[in-house]
Amino acid sequence: MRFIGCKTLLLDNIKQVIDENVKGAESFCDIFSGTSTVARYFKRWYQVYSNDLLYFSYVLQRGTIQNDKLPAFKKLNKIKNIKDPIDYFNSLSNSDMENLPQEKRFFQNNYAPTGGRMYVNDENALRIDYARITVEDWHNEGLIDDDEYFYLVACIVEGIPFVSNTSGTYGAFHKEWERRSYKKYELYRLDVYQNGKKNKCYNQDGVELIKKIKGDILYIDPPYNGRQYLPNYHVLETAAKYDYPEVRGVTAQRPYENNKSDFCLKTKVTQAFEELIKNANFKHIILSYSTDGLMKVEDIESIMKKYGKAETFKIYWIPYRRYKSRAQGDKEELKEMLVYIEK
Ligand SMILES: C[S@@+](CC[C@H](N)C(=O)[O-])C[C@H]1O[C@@H](n2cnc3c(N)ncnc32)[C@H](O)[C@@H]1O
Repeated sequence: MRFIGCKTLLLDNIKQVIDENVKGAESFCDIFSGTSTVARYFKRWYQVYSNDLLYFSYVLQRGTIQNDKLPAFKKLNKIKNIKDPIDYFNSLSNSDMENLPQEKRFFQNNYAPTGGRMYVNDENALRIDYARITVEDWHNEGLIDDDEYFYLVACIVEGIPFVSNTSGTYGAFHKEWERRSYKKYELYRLDVYQNGKKNKCYNQDGVELIKKIKGDILYIDPPYNGRQYLPNYHVLETAAKYDYPEVRGVTAQRPYENNKSDFCLKTKVTQAFEELIKNANFKHIILSYSTDGLMKVEDIESIMKKYGKAETFKIYWIPYRRYKSRAQGDKEELKEMLVYIEK
């Protein structure tokens, strides 16, 4: 999924830091999980905990991390004769969905031309509405259990960026239709890696959660700058919650007062980071950050050394070219780093 700060390109680097410093660990916690890419990757080797403030991130995690195998949908098959709900939704025609009452169609009424906006086209909005409402109904009627529910909602959410008429985030939509928005929306069939362990996912402020969990490796990938995540991904949040929020303005933002991160606030970030490190009941801590971030490298170093074994502190600089985006010019000085300490 396109997501600010997604670490798909850094998975090997994180693995190298672990291989170099960690022996005999059994659990891995991805406390700012975002797309859940890192948590999914490390599920191959460890019992995984993951967490994020965003509910849609939680849904992606819950569907693929805490679920330890692909759901079987036995009851749905027995009662509704639907063996594969992903195929079922993806092969529906418009006429199959037209009976969905107009007032229930939140995506069409708010994010599509019917509602005066252009995040997705009307037909795709209806496909999303129909799938999301049907999955909610199946869950309420007891036709699918929690594991099946979260897996299907995750597949619904994961499919949306492929047809979104945006440049990646949802702070605004394009005024002309981009090529991707003409594609037919489909639920995205997510893989579930089976590691046979009790993996667990959370949807909390990481600074609070850290007081309640413990394990071996803690991976911390907080936001670097003042851009709050929720307003940039509000459409995906609403797809996951489907809670008919009161949206406002040209961009149809949902309220997010309760979802602001201290890691995006210059006045609060250092204190929040210190709380996190102080309360971490983990032997190995790995932080992803950037030299362009709100916290200074010296502050990070002094906090990590204050609570960890100072002599184990290491900074691994990520070769710049691997992370450069096309939008950034050659003069860009931004550097990514991975920071390790043993606690
Ligand atoms: C840099 S992104 C993580 C990207 C992730 N590693 C990936 O590969 O997709 C930072 C994440 O931290 C989350 N976040 C911000 N503040 C948080 C907090 N206090 N507790 C938990 N999650 C938080 C954001 O919602 C966002 O998903």
